[in-house]
Amino acid sequence: MTVELATQLLTADAAGIAAAARCLTAGGLAAFPTETVYGLGADAGNGEAVARLYAAKGRPAFNPLIAHVVDSAAALQVGIFNPDAERLAAAFWPGPLTLVLPKQKDCGVSDLALAGLDSVAIRVPAHRTARALLAAFGRPVVAPSANRSGHVSPTSAAHVLGDLRGRIDLVIDGGPCTVGVESTIVSCLGAPTLLRPGGLPREAIERVLGRPLALAAVPEDDAPLAPGMLSSHYAPRADVRLDAQDARADEALLAFGQAPAHRGLTLNLSPRGDLVEAAANLFSHLRALDASGTRHIAVMTIPHEGLGEAINDRLARAAAPKP
Ligand code: TXA
Ligand code: MG
Repeated sequence: MTVELATQLLTADAAGIAAAARCLTAGGLAAFPTETVYGLGADAGNGEAVARLYAAKGRPAFNPLIAHVVDSAAALQVGIFNPDAERLAAAFWPGPLTLVLPKQKDCGVSDLALAGLDSVAIRVPAHRTARALLAAFGRPVVAPSANRSGHVSPTSAAHVLGDLRGRIDLVIDGGPCTVGVESTIVSCLGAPTLLRPGGLPREAIERVLGRPLALAAVPEDDAPLAPGMLSSHYAPRADVRLDAQDARADEALLAFGQAPAHRGLTLNLSPRGDLVEAAANLFSHLRALDASGTRHIAVMTIPHEGLGEAINDRLARAAAPKP
C-alpha cells in the first residue's frame, strides 16, 4: 500500500533549499532542478529512502541510480578515478556528464541504489539550486529523473507534479531545465565507453580524451550496461513515426527547422534549426503532444551531430514498440 503524501511545491530560495535538505536527512523524497532534467533525490546512504524512491517511480529495482555530489573532492570519496576519469572530471564538472567508476569501499551509496554493482555512476551537476542543495545536505544524493518509470523525463516542476504528486514529499521549482536531455554517461571501468548519449556531446569528450569513445558492448546476459537504456524507456502514449517529411491528417507533427504545412497540431523543437534549443524542448514538446490526446506523432529528421545524437537516441526509444 502506498501512502498519499501532500507534495509541497517550494521556491528555489534559501528557505526552500534548507527544507529540502531536512527532507533528505529525514529519509524523504525531494525533487530538484538540474541543468539536464529534474531529479528525484534521496539520501544515497539510506537504503529505506532509496527503496521508497524506487516505489515512487515504479522503477524496477535492478536499475542503478546516479550519485550526485557537490564537487570533485566529494566525488573522490565515492569512486576510484583513473587518469581518463580525472581528465574528464576536470574538463566537464560541474556539468551534464556522469562517470561510471569502480566504487570506493565506503562510498556512502547504499547497495540498493547501486543495484548490487561494484561500480557507481557519479555526477556533479552545474545547476545552482542543485549545487546549493548538495552543499546543504553534505553527502551523496541519488537522483533518477523525476518521472514515473517509462515516462519522459521532466524539464519543469509542473512535469514532476504531473507524474509524482502524492508520491513524493516536495519539489523545488527552479524553472525550466536549460539542457533538457539527461547527462551523457561514460564508463571509465576500462577504455572510456559511451553508455548513454546525453547533454554533453560525444565530440567534446573525445577531444579531451584525444581518442574515440568505445561503444557500449552488447551485454550477453540480457542485463543492459545502463538499464535505463532499455528500449521504450522514454515513451509517450502516442505512437511515434521518425524521419517524417510531412504529417498525415491524423498525426501531430513534431517539427525541426522549417516545418511543412500541416492542418493538425504542430510543435517545433527549434524553428531556427538549433540542436541545443531542440534538446531543451524535446521532453516538454513530447508531453504536450501526448496531452493533446493525439494517437500518432510524426517527427521530422533531426541532424545526427552534436546534441542531435542524444535527441535521436531518445526519439528512437519513444518510437520503440511498447512492452
Ligand atoms: O541528467 C541526469 O543524469 C539525470 C539528472 C537528474 O541528474 N538523472 C538521470 O538518472 O537521468 P536516471 O536514473 O534516469 O538514469 C541513470 C542511468 C540509468 O540508465 C542507469 O542504468 C545508469 O544511469 N547507471 C547508473 N549506475 C550505473 C552503473 N554503475 N553502471 C552503468 N550504468 C549505470
Ligand atoms: Mg530516467
